[in-house]
Amino acid sequence: MATLAELCRSQTDLTEAEVAHLQDLTGSWGLLADLSFADLLLYAPETEETEVPLVLLGHVRPTTGTTLYRADLVGQVFRRSRRPLIAECLEEGRIVEGSVHVGVDRDISLKAVPVRRGDTTVAVLARERSRPGDRPMGEQERTYLSVFDRFANMLERGEFPFRDEERFQHRAPRVGDGLLLVDREGRIEFASPNAVSVMHRLGMHRAVVGARLDDSGLGAEMLRSAFAKRTSVIEEVVRGSEATIVSHCLPLLEEGRATGAIVLVRDVTDLRRRDRLLVSKDATIREVHHRVKNNLQTISSLLRLQARRLTSKEARAAVEESVRRIGAISVVHDALAQSADHDVSFAEIVKPLVRAVEESVSMPERPLHFGVTGDAGILPAQVTTTLAVVVTELIQNAVDHAFIGSSAPEGGSPGRVEILLDRRPDLLAVDVVDDGVGLPEDFDPSDATGLGLTIVRTFVEVELGGTIHLRPGDESGTVAEVRIPASRLVSPLDDARDPRR
Ligand SMILES: Nc1ncnc2c1ncn2[C@@H]1O[C@H](COP(=O)(O)OP(=O)(O)O)[C@@H](O)[C@H]1O
Ligand SMILES: [Mg+2]
Repeated sequence: MATLAELCRSQTDLTEAEVAHLQDLTGSWGLLADLSFADLLLYAPETEETEVPLVLLGHVRPTTGTTLYRADLVGQVFRRSRRPLIAECLEEGRIVEGSVHVGVDRDISLKAVPVRRGDTTVAVLARERSRPGDRPMGEQERTYLSVFDRFANMLERGEFPFRDEERFQHRAPRVGDGLLLVDREGRIEFASPNAVSVMHRLGMHRAVVGARLDDSGLGAEMLRSAFAKRTSVIEEVVRGSEATIVSHCLPLLEEGRATGAIVLVRDVTDLRRRDRLLVSKDATIREVHHRVKNNLQTISSLLRLQARRLTSKEARAAVEESVRRIGAISVVHDALAQSADHDVSFAEIVKPLVRAVEESVSMPERPLHFGVTGDAGILPAQVTTTLAVVVTELIQNAVDHAFIGSSAPEGGSPGRVEILLDRRPDLLAVDVVDDGVGLPEDFDPSDATGLGLTIVRTFVEVELGGTIHLRPGDESGTVAEVRIPASRLVSPLDDARDPRR
């Protein structure tokens, strides 16, 4: 369906400023529909000439009454003779009331209100409701209808809609939230039942009607400012930690003077409490991430201190290896923490890991090039961490062993270490490929006793339920192939959430 602006542009001669005026109106006209218990329809002439048809630009149904229209007629075009009251209102620029016969036996009461901007009648707002019949009206109904009439008069004089800058920051107010009618002195003339409840929440326990708005705790400032600026004012009042009330104050104007106002009050206590809870949970998660990171750093420092006191070269190397492994976990933790609110693909985690190894290679016999290709998709955090340690170990082995004594075979061409990621339907494949010297002659992967490969095998086979295979590369070097079954790549939380599993 076309928007109001699109309809105006394609079907009418309205200027941008006039369209904006109508948008201001439709931004708050739900309120007017509720006050009049009626459908509101907005008509504009197709072009400026008087004989041209009328186009229906918009329609809003009341939440306080039943609609006369089941179908959506927006965008339809009507001959003026079919809408005589609307045409008269448009041509004369004044409110026209009457009744219209529809179908066989139904009369609807129609009030056509010119929407004026400066000296021009831009459009016509039609209020259409079934004829009220003889049923006596209650006080609330009478009050709402009279407030609607005051707004209708403001429209006719071009004093409404207000240029509402704040409109988009708040949900449009509805009468059902709670409505107070205030006179020009700021005394409450009428309060809807919901409004009375809100006043009680604010701690006002005596009669609401007859009291001054100032005494309710709702800002006196708001009313003064709405009267002075002759536009709507929005305010949020917090009473201790108990109640948060949003109020929209719309001044009722008569030729530039405020003769009163309506104040729509809405209890948003629960909404705001939920907001606060979310913010504090977020802060807690951040704090926990921070502490984990600090703890990892502390462990590294302790080990480094320890290493410095060791005299055995072998022992020192072993402890330094551990520091390096903790470093890898730190890198992963950091990447995961920084993306706490969105998932990160494993490829994004591998990059900083590669960088860390790259930076640790000092004085290489042969320059090394690292590459990451393919995509592993998004993995659960625990799998990410485990797999990251495995990949680091394999990259480190390539750096440590593949290029020993292979100084620049073909005139200094760099050594290559490639990490290939491939997410297939049934498994995740991670290959770490180098073009170095290859595995030792007598290498038997099944009883390799080095700590690195032991960690790799334990993590891949036990923790991830996968396989690890080391083989010679197609031309030279070594290929380490890690395969993880797809069933291990979904987090248990996802499992619980997805009913199809
Ligand atoms: N990419 C590789 N190229 C050549 N040899 C390798 C490669 N990866 C592993 N190896 C061999 O496997 C052995 C075991 O590795 P590992 O368990 O990580 O222990 P460490 O790295 O401490 O020696 C290494 O010592 C090395 O001989
Ligand atoms: Mg190793």
